[in-house]
Amino acid sequence: MADLSVEICGLRFSSPLMPAAGPPTRDGAACLAAVAGGAAAIVSKTISQQPAEVPRPCMSDVKIGMLNTELWSELTKEQWLDREYAIAKSAGVPLIVGLGYTAALIAELAPMVRPFADALELSCHYIGNDLTPITDTVKAAKRAVDVPVFVKMSPHPNIQEIALAVEAAGADALVMINSFGPCMGIDVETGLPLMGSQSGYGWLSGRAIKSLAVRCIFDAANAVKIPIFGVGGVSTGKDVAEMFMAGASAVQLCTEAILKGPAVYGKIAAELSAFLDSHGYQSVNELKGLTRRKMQQRQFSTEATAPSVTKLRCISCGNCVKSCPYQAIQLVDTKAVIDQTLCFGCGLCLSRCPVGAIGWGG
Ligand SMILES: Cc1cc2nc3c(=O)[nH]c(=O)nc-3n(C[C@H](O)[C@H](O)[C@H](O)COP(=O)(O)O)c2cc1C
Repeated sequence: MADLSVEICGLRFSSPLMPAAGPPTRDGAACLAAVAGGAAAIVSKTISQQPAEVPRPCMSDVKIGMLNTELWSELTKEQWLDREYAIAKSAGVPLIVGLGYTAALIAELAPMVRPFADALELSCHYIGNDLTPITDTVKAAKRAVDVPVFVKMSPHPNIQEIALAVEAAGADALVMINSFGPCMGIDVETGLPLMGSQSGYGWLSGRAIKSLAVRCIFDAANAVKIPIFGVGGVSTGKDVAEMFMAGASAVQLCTEAILKGPAVYGKIAAELSAFLDSHGYQSVNELKGLTRRKMQQRQFSTEATAPSVTKLRCISCGNCVKSCPYQAIQLVDTKAVIDQTLCFGCGLCLSRCPVGAIGWGG
């Protein structure tokens, strides 16, 4: 069986899977439930000086993911310090304490949480585009404590510039990405926004943002030397593999744990293990940065190459036939057949086939 364990900044994790800061770690009891469900570490819900006043409703399943308008923890820092961190810590796995948001607040909060924290995770979701507040926050945390400081980043087009600045400020690892927004959804029965925020805005998470997260991880991993915790839309073992291939060293998940419950960590770890075994990998660490290495060998091409169908695998579902924009596929004797003269080589059919019957070459 492949080795799932990872080590980041001297912290050892039995698998790369852990909750992201959010409802799955909203208090000590939730943290224990996450570990019972297979999480290899805890990332506690971000706390700040004051408890958050969260507009309601604050979460909605929008089918491709979730909208939320949560802020940080709605529990007081005193409750976390007096009770919740100790409960979370009793799970016996590394506890990464989520903190926000300004340098002054971090300087005050970091020493308070230090007795419980194996590392800090600074959320810079609400700081905006100017890099100085983010780098000042990192420096404040590094001055205040002796544990590793991780920086949670929002998705940005210039992610490399931010990642480099955060690394230069002393961050020990990056965590990316936070939810994406602002976005909006409307309940067509009432005409009201799904979210109870004044603007009606919410932030998108879950499967819809996975490709955005993978791009951010890939870009950042190509710029910085510090490790990256991948977050955003992870719901299967293959998603974890994808994030590692992009350059991640561990993976957090929030939405999938909200929607499916704390058993998801163990389930996804088992899927990852099966993926590694079936592909001949000895360790999850072998996947790290694989895509960059593969791309260096790949020839960029604008020439059409038609994929081929493994007829024995084809289940005659017709998905590829319906969605081929070039009408290049037909079912012949119940099996998909691709007309090479019509095929544009777009590749959509590979991703539409539910059984992997269509592939390049062969
Ligand atoms: C309801 C909700 C609350 C969240 N609260 C926090 C938080 O307190 N601190 C934080 O850094 N990120 C928070 N996040 C962002 C998640 O940690 C995560 O970065 C994001 O949702 C993308 O991961 P996912 O697609 O697995 O959910 C929250 C997300 C959701 C959906």
